[in-house]
Amino acid sequence: MHTVTAPFRPPAPAPRRTPPDVFDLLAALRDNPLTTWTEAHFEQLVIAGEGVLGRVTVVHDPAAIRHILVDNAASYRKDDLQRRVLAPGLGNGLLTAEGEEWRAQRRTLAPLFAPRRVASFVPAMAEAAERLVRRWRRRDRRVLDVALEMTRVTLDVLERTVFTEGLKRDPDALGRAVTRYFEALGPIDPLDVFGLPDWLPRLGRLRARPALRFFDEVVTELIETRKALLARTGEAPQDLLTLLLQAADPETGQGLSDLEVRANIVTFIGAGHETTANALSWALYLLSQAPAARERVEKEADAVLGLRPVETEDLPRLIFTRAVIEEAMRLYPPVPFMSRTALEADRIGRLKIPKGSLVTIAPYVLHRHRRLWQDPDAFLPERFLPEHREGIDRYAYLPFGAGPRVCIGASFALQEAMIVLATIVRAARLDLVEGHVVTPVHRVTLRPGGGLPMVLRLRR
Ligand code: HEM
Repeated sequence: MHTVTAPFRPPAPAPRRTPPDVFDLLAALRDNPLTTWTEAHFEQLVIAGEGVLGRVTVVHDPAAIRHILVDNAASYRKDDLQRRVLAPGLGNGLLTAEGEEWRAQRRTLAPLFAPRRVASFVPAMAEAAERLVRRWRRRDRRVLDVALEMTRVTLDVLERTVFTEGLKRDPDALGRAVTRYFEALGPIDPLDVFGLPDWLPRLGRLRARPALRFFDEVVTELIETRKALLARTGEAPQDLLTLLLQAADPETGQGLSDLEVRANIVTFIGAGHETTANALSWALYLLSQAPAARERVEKEADAVLGLRPVETEDLPRLIFTRAVIEEAMRLYPPVPFMSRTALEADRIGRLKIPKGSLVTIAPYVLHRHRRLWQDPDAFLPERFLPEHREGIDRYAYLPFGAGPRVCIGASFALQEAMIVLATIVRAARLDLVEGHVVTPVHRVTLRPGGGLPMVLRLRR
């Protein structure tokens, strides 16, 4: 008999009926900002109001988002809250720079993420994915923390693409430093919410300091070694480090300063590591709860890959794999929240945005908005198949942002996630440990709180 099963609706904090008061808000921002959203945010396209942060306009209207991020992007800048939370670690790399400094860096870095260059990283990504499943061979039927495993594989990819020569130190030590660093920075500090001066010590930053220092030392060592190699031989692996050292602004011919090279290495690791790991963790979790979708990705991987590693030509054929990743990033966008400050007064139709006020766009809310999606809380990867994708408004789906500040690593990340996911499902099945309750937690990125314990079952 043919039975139609209901789609899986994964766990998410229930939206509040009414907005939190100040104390509640601060506690929620520290513990899990996802719990601050109210029913109204998921039902109304724009909500403007005065709060502890002054005037805030919460925008989830695709046309208004396009206006803010694209058409009138010059009237906005990343706001201080976002910069304060990120900048202590990322320096003035591309993610946090503003104005002319940002424009020059973006022009200089664009060729590093051009399609041909990103395609040249397929073998490195495939090797990292193969190494992961090889490590799993002796762990059949054991429990893995899949969140940790994904963090490892994305770090391995970064090591193979950013600095091929590898680290002399224990590679896991860098992973641990990165994770500790983000954990310490993660909770939003009330001092930052109220915009208190930078010289006041923040607990998070004090805790992050050793991780930061270690990070700095490692990256400085890498740059020095590579510069010496280039000076000695004129040749070096064509990874992102060499490309950064050789990059030149197409308009001025100017290269990057040592400080900018370092800031961008740290930025690539910071921006590309947890985000991609989270996209993969959520995809594997969702597949474990949706047997039909899981069988379909497995069949696709078997048909396209057989037993061999992923190659560049396979990517356009991994259609369902890609749809699963896109749907995972819809339900659990790795960057769940973005914000901007208006540099001047702006008007979008009847909506007035005062100069200096804050505008927030939360992909997490946008992607589950009742007015923009059908069955918004259900896991339905089919939405992203080519025949349905046209129905999705470009500005209703923003895992990578949009406009001039759109994620420069978007195709790098998508390619990596597809390669790793296809390699995993070809080799193994992962099932959530019985009784484990998955909770999405917003800590800079959106991750499964408390990890993702899953039982590994090798497929062959
Ligand atoms: C699934 C993985 C990823 C997601 C979801 C993601 C998401 C985003 C988002 C939403 C933004 C825009 C933020 C804003 O406008 O406020 C952004 C910017 C950025 N991302 Fe990603 N990212 C990912 C992977 C990567 C990777 C792999 C790299 C580099 C190797 C990277 C580097 C950057 C940089 C440098 C920016 C700043 C761009 C600029 O301001 O010009 N990201 N990312």
